[in-house]
Amino acid sequence: MSENNSIAALRKIYQLKSLHEKDVNEDPVKQFESWWQEAINSQAEEPNAMTLATCSASGKPSARIVLLKGISENGFVFFTNYKSRKAHEIKENSFVALVFFWKELERQIRIEGKVKKISGKESDEYFSVRPRESQLGAWSSPQSTVIESADFLQENMKKYNGLFHSKEVPRPDFWGGYMVEPNLIEFWQGKPGRLHDRLQYSLEKNGAWKLQRLAP
Ligand SMILES: Cc1cc2nc3c(=O)[nH]c(=O)nc-3n(C[C@H](O)[C@H](O)[C@H](O)COP(=O)(O)O)c2cc1C
Repeated sequence: MSENNSIAALRKIYQLKSLHEKDVNEDPVKQFESWWQEAINSQAEEPNAMTLATCSASGKPSARIVLLKGISENGFVFFTNYKSRKAHEIKENSFVALVFFWKELERQIRIEGKVKKISGKESDEYFSVRPRESQLGAWSSPQSTVIESADFLQENMKKYNGLFHSKEVPRPDFWGGYMVEPNLIEFWQGKPGRLHDRLQYSLEKNGAWKLQRLAP
């Protein structure tokens, strides 16, 4: 462990804010929106970057960053390749988890729930407003598959650029959005002495959200 001393010694004191039951919204999605606004106001870097954890049918988890692209009362939307590793895992097991870390505010939000594809029309709407280069990138990258070299992607870009020359780039049918419908959302606020605040909302059978405090 000794060579790692400098890692072990890294330690930040969290002291910006605290989180009280009386101050939070009874609806966790509204509470998320309120924290979201604060993240925007505090100029948090890429506040929509979130870790998405999926789990295969055999119970093997994997995680990666994706970007949050929409919030509604029904859930949290991201876009990806429907043939990617994450998409295969989602097909096998639709339970996923999301994690946001907004270090500027010393906050973490954990979300768990079931994920489902959004409609083709909704995916078309978002795809149509992406930059052309990103649209061509979606066509060009067989996400999560092994490729021989980076040139393969550049060649594909040229190919699809030619194919869709002076036309709108259509959305590939293997690319689109998912919505995570939450059944558990936890708001974490860092505090001194590692006595952090953790407020967890869990969805009950009758559709109401139960709010509980967890030990840090
Ligand atoms: C900041 C950041 C944002 C990203 N946003 C997305 C995204 O919105 N959608 C996506 O498919 N991949 C995104 N990625 C790439 C993923 O992390 C990942 O490499 C890719 O989706 C393949 O994951 P998979 O093989 O587990 O399916 C992002 C990566 C980073 C670092």
